[in-house]
Amino acid sequence: MRTLLAGNWKMNGLHASLAEIRALIRSISERPAADIIICPPATLIAEAARTVRSAPIEIGGQDCHAESSGAFTGDISAEMLRDAGATAVIVGHSERRQCHGETNRIVAAKLTAASRAGLAPILCIGESEAQRDRGEAISAVRRQLSESMDAKFKPVELVVAYEPVWAIGTGRTPKPQEIVQMHEAVRAVLIERLGQEGAQIRILYGGSVKPDNAGEILSLPGVGGALIGGASLKAPDFLSILQAIPSR
Ligand code: 13P
Repeated sequence: MRTLLAGNWKMNGLHASLAEIRALIRSISERPAADIIICPPATLIAEAARTVRSAPIEIGGQDCHAESSGAFTGDISAEMLRDAGATAVIVGHSERRQCHGETNRIVAAKLTAASRAGLAPILCIGESEAQRDRGEAISAVRRQLSESMDAKFKPVELVVAYEPVWAIGTGRTPKPQEIVQMHEAVRAVLIERLGQEGAQIRILYGGSVKPDNAGEILSLPGVGGALIGGASLKAPDFLSILQAIPSR
C-alpha cells in the first residue's frame, strides 16, 4: 500500500496560497514517495484542481453535506465538490464534530454521500484527552468508527484518519506504541465490519505531524500515511514530511 499524505488547510488560505501548491508541484517528481491530497478551503478547490491538473496531486474538500442538493444555506454537497474538481473529502473531522455538533450518525450519512458522488472519503476519528486519561481511548475510537459507517456502506477508496483530539494543533503526540495499538484496533474494526476489504484501507495518523517527527510516525507498523494540518500550509514543511517517508 502506498503511503498517503493528506494536507488539511482548515480555514486557512486565500488565492495567494495557491503558490504553495505550485511550489509543491515544482519540487516533487512525477512519482513522489507518497500519494498526495491537498484539502484547501472550498473557495480554492476549483482553482487548486486546475493547478494540479497534470501533477501527481489530488484535491479534496474538508466537509460535505449528506444531501446532493436542496435548501441547506451555506452547505456544499459532495457532488458540488466533485464538480469543482475534488476527488476526495474529509468527513467527521473532530473540529466539525466539536464546533458543528456532528454526531456519528451525521458523519455516517456524509460518508455515504461522499461515496455516492465518487469522492474518496477520509473519515476522521479520535479520542478526547479525557477519554484517554480514563483509559477509554481504544473503546471510544472503536465505537466512533463503527457508528460512523452505515450498515450498508461500501468502502470504495475509503481512508481512515486516526486523530487524537488532544494532539491536534498542540505539538503533542501519542507515544509510538499508543499509535501502533490504536491503528491495530482500527484495523480490527475495519475487518470486522468490511471483511477483506477492511484489510486494504489506509489508516493515517493525524495530530501535530511535523517535519521532525514524521519519519518516526510514518515508519510505525500499520501507519499508512498522515493527515497534516499546520505543516501542510507551507510547501517546504510538507516537502520535508514527504522526504521523511522511510523506504519500506
Ligand atoms: P495539526 O497537524 O495542525 O495538528 O492538525 C491535524 C489535523 O487536524 C489535520 O486534520
